Amino acid sequence: MAGNWKMYKTAGDTTVFFERFLPLVATSTHADIAICPTYVNIPAAVAAAGNSRVGIGAQNLYWAKEGAFTGEISGPMLKAAGCEYVIIGHSERRQYFGETEETVLKRTLAAIEHGLKPIVCVGERLEERESNNTETVLRAQFDGGIAPLTAEQFAQITIAYEPVWAIGTGKTATPDMAADAHRFIRGLVAARFGDAAAAATRILYGGSVKPDNVKGLMAQPEIDGALVGGASLEAASFASIVNF
Ligand code: 13P
Repeated sequence: MAGNWKMYKTAGDTTVFFERFLPLVATSTHADIAICPTYVNIPAAVAAAGNSRVGIGAQNLYWAKEGAFTGEISGPMLKAAGCEYVIIGHSERRQYFGETEETVLKRTLAAIEHGLKPIVCVGERLEERESNNTETVLRAQFDGGIAPLTAEQFAQITIAYEPVWAIGTGKTATPDMAADAHRFIRGLVAARFGDAAAAATRILYGGSVKPDNVKGLMAQPEIDGALVGGASLEAASFASIVNF
């Protein structure tokens, strides 16, 4: 169960969130829990999470280890700051910041090399779904960004299916629609990495997950968890999602 805080909260807000959130998930051992704040709030989140079960993740990384890349942050820096996870290829990065399959793959390889667990996002836009191209888009994203990994590298990643039309819109995919997409993605994994890898891989659903719809989504055996935006910003709301 992962919260993507996008470009929200200050360091102070981050500390307050954890003070409220940790007691609410102290006995929640059924799921791995992650919070992904903005880069500058990672130290505050790591300090506040302490040795709780909540892992901290970044929302992106650059693939070079270091160098003259003004404004970028590398895998070793995130690792040293205490990150366990990193989100890669979020649709907002694809849409506003020129992310491509090629850069998704480079970031994923760098994350793995530096000991971070990538959460690699895929998902179709509304016009792609409406023109019946969902599977074509998912296949292209998988083929370009994920399939080139080795089996050992693939075992390190979590996939997040986030239909772009469901993000921040209040429009959730129905549990059946989400499960269909997850099944399709798992089929791609099986074809490339084998049935055991497909069964073991975790596929999260993201897109307007809320306390009142998480149960229906999680009732689908194909859905292994959630990547939550807006509803992860408030401690009680995200805790009730984690504890669905
Ligand atoms: P919302 O939960 O706000 O729709 O955002 C989903 C998302 O993009 C998580 O990465």
